[in-house]
Amino acid sequence: MADPLHTVSALLEPVFRAVTGVDADPVVRASDRADAQVNGALAAAKQVGRNPREVAAEIVAAAAEPLRGVATMEIAGPGFINLTFSDSFVAGELASAARDPHLGVRPTPAAERIIVDYSAPNVAKEMHVGHLRTTIIGDALVRMLEFVGHEVIRENHIGDWGTPFGMLIEHLLDLGETEAANELSVGDLDGFYRQARVKFDSDDEFKQRSRLRVVALQSGDGETLRLWQELVDASAAYFNIVYRKLGVLLTSADLAGESSYHGLLDEVIQRLDRSGLLQQSDGADVVFAPGFVNREGEPLPLIVRKGNGGFNYATSDLACVVDRVERLRATLMLYVVGAPQAQHFEMVWKVCEMAGWLPPPARCVHVQFGSVLGSDRKMFKTRSGDTVKLVELIDEAVERGIAQVRERSPELSPAEQDSVGRMIGIGAVKYADLSTDRIKDYVFDWDRMLSFDGNTAPYLQYAHARIRSIFRRVGVDGQTHLGEVILGDPKERALALRLLGFDQAVNESLERFVPHRLCTYLFDLAQDFTGFYEACPVLRAEDERVRQSRLALCDLTAQVLDRGLGLLGIDVPDRM
Ligand code: ARG
Repeated sequence: MADPLHTVSALLEPVFRAVTGVDADPVVRASDRADAQVNGALAAAKQVGRNPREVAAEIVAAAAEPLRGVATMEIAGPGFINLTFSDSFVAGELASAARDPHLGVRPTPAAERIIVDYSAPNVAKEMHVGHLRTTIIGDALVRMLEFVGHEVIRENHIGDWGTPFGMLIEHLLDLGETEAANELSVGDLDGFYRQARVKFDSDDEFKQRSRLRVVALQSGDGETLRLWQELVDASAAYFNIVYRKLGVLLTSADLAGESSYHGLLDEVIQRLDRSGLLQQSDGADVVFAPGFVNREGEPLPLIVRKGNGGFNYATSDLACVVDRVERLRATLMLYVVGAPQAQHFEMVWKVCEMAGWLPPPARCVHVQFGSVLGSDRKMFKTRSGDTVKLVELIDEAVERGIAQVRERSPELSPAEQDSVGRMIGIGAVKYADLSTDRIKDYVFDWDRMLSFDGNTAPYLQYAHARIRSIFRRVGVDGQTHLGEVILGDPKERALALRLLGFDQAVNESLERFVPHRLCTYLFDLAQDFTGFYEACPVLRAEDERVRQSRLALCDLTAQVLDRGLGLLGIDVPDRM
């Protein structure tokens, strides 16, 4: 165990039981006033109808022995207990964190199979800045969930089905398959789509062909499916280029687009019908979920089959839940999708619940997020007012990162400058996104995100590289130095306690799927490190034991920064 709050909580549980006669959570929390605060005496006293301060006093008395050498206790307010950890306890916890390959982060006590649905661009459409947040946040959640021991299935719910495919396939035929594939693979997806759209809107013959093509696609015509697959493959190849540039885990193996649920759609309708949920409204098949109303206050239907017999986005999302729960046996499904789709998901999941397709513990969570804004606080656009292509944004990030490194670190070789610059540029974009509460909008600001001061990736990457440079100076890697930790200076103690907070930071990030919690932690850690480094000479420490202890603190800080940023999908250079 390497989280002091947990160690103390485990020690206090039997004390609580002995004093109150009931099983009560000691509720040990981090606190500004002390190293930790025990809040559970209040609830426990209430539960047994006693005075909370009295109960707290008995707990303090009874805990003296179990907490000997661990912490001292003091009662505060209506029955809180303030804890001050002993230095030897902190040092011991730190030593066990240092030995742990997970650096003190506890594995989840209840591993689950979790689907993370993220990125989800549309076939034959450009990936734009709107796909940035889902891709980055989803990727960070995947990494964190796996780190604590969950089994994660990544699913990229691409838009690869529906009426536009009629015109896209006809346009592909008009261009010639080879030419079309070329156009798509160089990433001119918007151009391709726009040309198809223009013809569709202006050319009746083309429009007619497109309509027939949709029918052929829906009915599984072999040649049509082959052409459709070509479109999907060319787009997927392009998406993969973007994912690799961005350094996210998604590959073609994670594709689970709307088309993959096509075979299930009829069954979804039949099942809804059999369970008596299906109704007719304006000629369409719908389900009414209680609690959803339109602007006029009338019940709002979820349309599952349009009047013309066509299925829609909601139908494939219903089938998707069935697939995830019944075939993949997932118990938690995270949808990393923008806030505007909140109502769509609420309605889909409500219908799933009503139909019995989401039996507990299976549940869906909308991991929603705000928008990326320009400096004018409106939607982030190019200077000419177009949507920003994601690939161009990534390329610019890399260019800016490299320019930054060339200027700051002329001593690095050009190859090193390129690779470090890439890490800095991409890291800056990811961190700027992840470090704001995902619910909020944020302003995309190159200068701020690339700054070496403040809560940014370059600041944290630099903090890490600086520690590594200490070890280069002594001519050894970290690790070998881990020995006894001595906490003589308050700054050493503060850093040690911060290092032990890694577990809590990761677990709290996962409680509500908020990566910014981990970002805040890493920033605090880097600042505590700076405080320590300014106050406590490391290489010129007065005695060898202190020097070794400080090196150990340095090494562990570097490891936690490296691992923590890694969980956010951010690479960390050893020198910069
Ligand atoms: N392709 C969709 C869009 O661009 C996002 C899909 C999200 N996932 C889902 N299961 N609906 O809006």
